[in-house]
This record gives sequence, C-alpha cells and structure tokens, in this order.
Amino acid sequence: MSTWANLGLQDSASPLMEQLIFFHDHALLILVMITVLVSYLMFMLFFNNYVNRFLLHGQLIEMIWTILPAIILLFIAFPSLRLLYLLDEINEPSVTLKSIGHQWYWSYEYSDFNNIEFDSYMIPTNELTTDGFRLLDVDNRIVLPMNSQIRILVTAADVIHSWTIPALGVKVDGTPGRLNQTNFFINRPGLFYGQCSEICGANHSFMPIVIESVPINYFIKWISNNLNS
Ligand code: CUA
Repeated sequence: MSTWANLGLQDSASPLMEQLIFFHDHALLILVMITVLVSYLMFMLFFNNYVNRFLLHGQLIEMIWTILPAIILLFIAFPSLRLLYLLDEINEPSVTLKSIGHQWYWSYEYSDFNNIEFDSYMIPTNELTTDGFRLLDVDNRIVLPMNSQIRILVTAADVIHSWTIPALGVKVDGTPGRLNQTNFFINRPGLFYGQCSEICGANHSFMPIVIESVPINYFIKWISNNLNS
C-alpha cells in the first residue's frame, strides 16, 4: 500500500545511503531558504512605492548579489563532491557478486564460490501469493551477508540496463561490453527491493531486483547448500 512515506526516500540500509539522505536534506534546506527569500522579495515588489529617478546603477549591491549565490553554491558543491568520491571508494570487499542484465531478467554469479549462478525472474501477477509484492518479487533472490563489504560487478548481455537498489544507495548501469563496479555495506537484515532503471525495452518494468540480507552464518549455510546441489 502506498503511504505518505513513499513521497520521500526509503529508509537507508547502508552507510552510503545514510550520507545521501543527509546530503538531500542539506540541499533541500538551502533550496527552501532561497525560494522563501526570493518569493518574499517578489511578493513585496507589488507593494513598492519608492521611486528614485536618479538611481541608475549600484556597484556594491551588484557585487553582493553576484558573489553571494556563488558562495551558496559552494556549500552544495563541496559536500556533493565528497559524496561522489565516497561512493566510488572500494574497501576490501569480502564478497563479490556479478549481475548481468538481460531482456528482461537479471542473472547473478557468485564468482568467489565456485561460480554459483542463477537467473532471477519477476513473479507474474497471476502467480503471486497474498504476501508477495506485485511487479517487485522475484523467483530467485540474491542472498548477501549483512555487516560486510560487498562488491558488485554489473554488465549486460543485450541492451543497457541499470542495477538499482534505493535503500542501499546503489545505481549502476549494466552496459554490454563493459564491466562496472561499485560496493556497498548492508547494515541490517531484511529484504531490499530494486528495479532496473534504464529504459531497456518493452518489459523494462518487469525486471526487479530482490536482495535477502542475512547474518553471515546464514549466508555461509546458503553458499554451502548451493555448492552441494
Ligand atoms: Cu532493464 Cu530497464
């Protein structure tokens, strides 16, 4: 069910998403202050009675209202750059997951563990159980350990796709012939949903992503079960 909470960003499940939310709030606060100030000035102009026939230029005020906005922009630019470089940092990942975009499903490979691989298709609406999420649940979930650095390699087999998980602050394009890399850290257990976010064709909206975040001992169990079968 959609609620008011869906208007904003999802609750973060990773330190990077937490930082992204902080930056969003920071930028929005500056935006609100500018909007309020400019709206107030424009509104007050309607009631202005002062006229000065000899006022043709004002060096000082022009100086102020040129430099001040530039300084305000720096307060957005520096935190933005800090985040940009933070998102790209790779911190000795303990697990690597490779995800390959296809028209229209994702396939995954756990290259560290004898290359466990599987496809992940969306569950069609008519096959959905009552507790399933329509257009969001998949037949084979990605299982990943919480509290560990995870590297994700993204590519595609046909057209450009995008591997996107809002709660983790991850969005990487999968491009044919390229291998893109990013990393994240999940700080709680649970299910994290995502969708392809690159317009990849007629069924673009039917290739969701589901991550099952579990404690590390459960992850090891899952891996060994899959290795034996
Ligand atoms: Cu794959 Cu959109």
